[in-house]
Amino acid sequence: MYKEMKITSPIKRTESARLFEASKTFFPGGVNSPVRAFKSVGGTPLFIKKGNGALIWDEDDNEFIDFCCSWGPLILGHNHPQVFSSIVSTLENGSSFGAPTRKENDLAQFILERIPFIDKMRFTSSGTEAVMSAIRLARGYTGKTKIVKFDGCYHGHVDALLVNAGSGLATFGTSSSAGVPEVFANETLVLPLNDIETLRTCLTEYADDIACVIIEPIPANNGLLLQDKQFLLVLREICTELGILLIFDEVISGFRVAFGGAAELYAITPDIVTYGKILGGGLPVGAYAAKKHIMAFVSPDGPVYQAGTLSGNPVAMAAGLAQLKECAKNNFYHELEEKALYIVNQVNAFTEENNYPLKLVSLGSIFWFSFNGRKSISAAKEINPDMTNFNRLHAFLLDEGIYFGPSGYEVGFISQAHTQAQLEKASKKIQEGLAFIFKS
Ligand SMILES: Cc1ncc(COP(=O)(O)O)c(C=O)c1O
Repeated sequence: MYKEMKITSPIKRTESARLFEASKTFFPGGVNSPVRAFKSVGGTPLFIKKGNGALIWDEDDNEFIDFCCSWGPLILGHNHPQVFSSIVSTLENGSSFGAPTRKENDLAQFILERIPFIDKMRFTSSGTEAVMSAIRLARGYTGKTKIVKFDGCYHGHVDALLVNAGSGLATFGTSSSAGVPEVFANETLVLPLNDIETLRTCLTEYADDIACVIIEPIPANNGLLLQDKQFLLVLREICTELGILLIFDEVISGFRVAFGGAAELYAITPDIVTYGKILGGGLPVGAYAAKKHIMAFVSPDGPVYQAGTLSGNPVAMAAGLAQLKECAKNNFYHELEEKALYIVNQVNAFTEENNYPLKLVSLGSIFWFSFNGRKSISAAKEINPDMTNFNRLHAFLLDEGIYFGPSGYEVGFISQAHTQAQLEKASKKIQEGLAFIFKS
């Protein structure tokens, strides 16, 4: 079957193609999470066999420098020795007990000692679960039901957050997925990012009904939509004024732009924060956290029910703690940013010189290909929806051994494991790819 597929790439992909044909008989679209299916960029997803440092290898033994980093969790790269040995030594004593373990305390203590605005936390097994639980907590705590999200932010596949903005500026959402009842979507208001006026009008009008506002303070799921700090400050101010809880969804930005995430970077304190990705060191972990008086509402202390068979799993806790210990070291985030800036500055100088409509937008170790050439993009409506050039670049880079997440809306991540030589190669190949795209 796979022989009939058009494989135009010079690199061999026969094993990935064969596995994809098989996986399509097992899973919807052949995958266990939609973006992996390569639908936006076209072609066949690579089946990854192994990873080490900043490199990954597919099932055809092609080697790639990895800028997807498992969509963010692998801030130390693949197979980091400390994370690896911590997982293995924990596993020697068993994998799960469904009872409290010392590892949960160790990881929580490490985090709570370093992030001053949270007193208590609850571990979950994914970012989605963390967000879903944080919303429930906000509703339980405030006794209100409506929530506010921003167009362009993604918070996992939580029913009430799978909503699109309706027409108009501040609108009650309409569900963006089949299976999400409109009554759920109607409980969610969708606002444009970085628009203080609309924010103020809407929150003031519905203050009595709104339990919380949830935002990715560094929106990184629809491109990298950098917010003016002023917008975030005003958001904080209005929420406090109107008795609305502010949730920072830091599933991507937590432990990524600073140990304490965007909250630390911008010095803005949310009421509830959600984490995931990096927190688990490559294993499935999420968390939500807040001050004591809010967390007191969580079961069994309080009336907001939330639970999980594998929550706080000791092996995952061990991986997370080993990873976060590295992140907490001096200069860690500075060095990561320097690595990112190497690629970003080189590519941007090149595109400016050649007048190509492409800018790499970045913050810390997160970067994104903005194909409308604008340096700063702050709202979803400013994104160029034509992803043809990104798709061509993606295909070019795959052939050259550079792996990015397969969608032009997704960001790239730098890990500590990326070497100077790998960054140089990637920068050079990106420039070659852009020249190829814009000259042809
Ligand atoms: C900001 C944000 N929140 C929540 C989630 C959901 O996390 P998970 O995929 O672990 O469920 C994601 C996933 O990409 C995310 O980027």
